[in-house]
Amino acid sequence: MQKNIFESVTKSESVFVDRNIMSQHYTPDKLPFREHQIDEITQILGNTLNGKRADNLFVYGKVGTGKTVTVKYVLQQLEEFSRQNNIGADTTYVNCRTHNSKYKVLLSALRKFYPDENFIGFSAAFVYEKLLEYADRNKKHLVLALDEVDKVKDVDELIYALSRGNDELASGSVSIIGISNNLRFKDRLDPRTKSSLCEKEMVFSPYNAEELKAILNERAASAFRKGCVEESAVNCAAAVSAQESGDARTAVMLLLRAGELADKSGLSRVSDAEVRKAKSKVEEEIIFNMIKTLPSQQQLVLYAISSLVFNRKGVRSVTGLREPGVLFSGEIYDEYKRVAKSLGETYISSRWYRQYINELEIYGLIITSQSGKGIRGSTRLVRLGFDAKKIKDVLEVELFA
Ligand SMILES: Nc1ncnc2c1ncn2[C@@H]1O[C@H](COP(=O)(O)OP(=O)(O)OP(=O)(O)O)[C@@H](O)[C@H]1O
Ligand SMILES: [Mg+2]
Repeated sequence: MQKNIFESVTKSESVFVDRNIMSQHYTPDKLPFREHQIDEITQILGNTLNGKRADNLFVYGKVGTGKTVTVKYVLQQLEEFSRQNNIGADTTYVNCRTHNSKYKVLLSALRKFYPDENFIGFSAAFVYEKLLEYADRNKKHLVLALDEVDKVKDVDELIYALSRGNDELASGSVSIIGISNNLRFKDRLDPRTKSSLCEKEMVFSPYNAEELKAILNERAASAFRKGCVEESAVNCAAAVSAQESGDARTAVMLLLRAGELADKSGLSRVSDAEVRKAKSKVEEEIIFNMIKTLPSQQQLVLYAISSLVFNRKGVRSVTGLREPGVLFSGEIYDEYKRVAKSLGETYISSRWYRQYINELEIYGLIITSQSGKGIRGSTRLVRLGFDAKKIKDVLEVELFA
C-alpha cells in the first residue's frame, strides 16, 4: 500500500520528542549561566513579599543574552510563591514592542490585573488611576516588567508617572523592571527618569561557545529523542552563534531548524551538515523579525537606504568611480523625507535621524564609517549589512501593504 502523505510528519519519524521546547517563546525551568542574575533579581523583588516596594531595576545586555527569559522566569516564580502563600505581590510582563506608548503599556498592565474588564477607550488618566487603585485597594506590591522599554515613545512620562504613583499610594506599591538591548538607551533618558529607573542595574553579557554548548545540550535533552542530535551539531550551532555575537536565540533556532531539516530529509540524526544548511535561513529569520518590529519611522529610514542601494546609488570616491552600495548620510535623509512625504507622514528631525542611524548600526543592519577629507568635507558613509533587495521586500510589505 502507498505510504500516507502525513506519515513523515508524525512523531514516530521525527527527531523531536517535543519541538515546542526549542521554540523561542518557551521558558525552560533551568537557565544555565544565569543563576547569579536569577539570585540577584530574586533578592531585589523579595521586598514585595515583605510588604515593601522593590527597587526599580534596569536590565540590559546584547541580543539573545537571556534577559527576557530570565526575568519571565523570576516573575513566574514570584507570582506562584505569592499565590501559594497568599501574599500581596503581583506581576505583569509587557512587551513594549507591541505596547509602545505610555497609554498602551498601562492598558496592557490593567488587562492582567482586571481580566474581566475592558478599558479600551478610557482616558490615559483613568487607566493610570485604575492601576494605582488596584495596588492600593488590594494592598498589592506590583512588579511591572517592561521588556524592550526603549521602544516606548513617551518613556520618560511613563517611568515618571509610575514612580510618582508610589507617593499617592496609602498601601501597596509599584516597581519597574526595564529591559533593553539598546546599550545607548540610557543616554536618551531624562536624568530624573534615569535615576528612577536605574535604582539597580544589571548587565547580561554574551555567552561564549562553551556556555552555548551547555545551554543547547540542556534544552536538546528534553526536546529531541535520545541520541538524535550528534555532538557535531551542537558544537557547530554553538560555534556559529558565539562567533557572531554570543546570542542564545541564534543557537537555539539553528538547532531547531536543523532538526526540521533532518525530519524533512528523513534523517534519523541531526548533524553539523543540517546546522550549516539552516544557517542562512536562521540569520534571515532573525533579521526580518527585527526589521518588522522597528518603529515605522525607522523602517522608513532603512527603506530609504535599501532603495537607494537597490537603485545602484553609490558614493563617488576620490578616483571619481562610484563605490557601489556606499551612501552619504545626507542623501539618505533626503530620500527618507521624500518617501515619508509621499506617504503623507511627518518626518523626524535630523537629530532623531542620527539617533536612528546609530541604532540601526547597533542592530547590525547597517555599517557606517567616516568619509576621508575631500568628499563634501568629512561626512558619514552608510552601507547595508544585508542584501538590499531582501530588506526592501520585507519593508515594502510592512510599510505599503
Ligand atoms: N541560559 C539559558 N538557558 C536556556 N535558554 C536560554 C538561556 N539564555 C537564553 N536562552 C534562550 O535563548 C533565546 C533568547 O533569549 P532571550 O529572549 O531571553 O534573549 P534577550 O536577551 O531577551 O534578547 P533580546 O535583546 O533580543 O530581546 C530564548 O529562546 C531563550 O529561551
Ligand atoms: Mg528580549
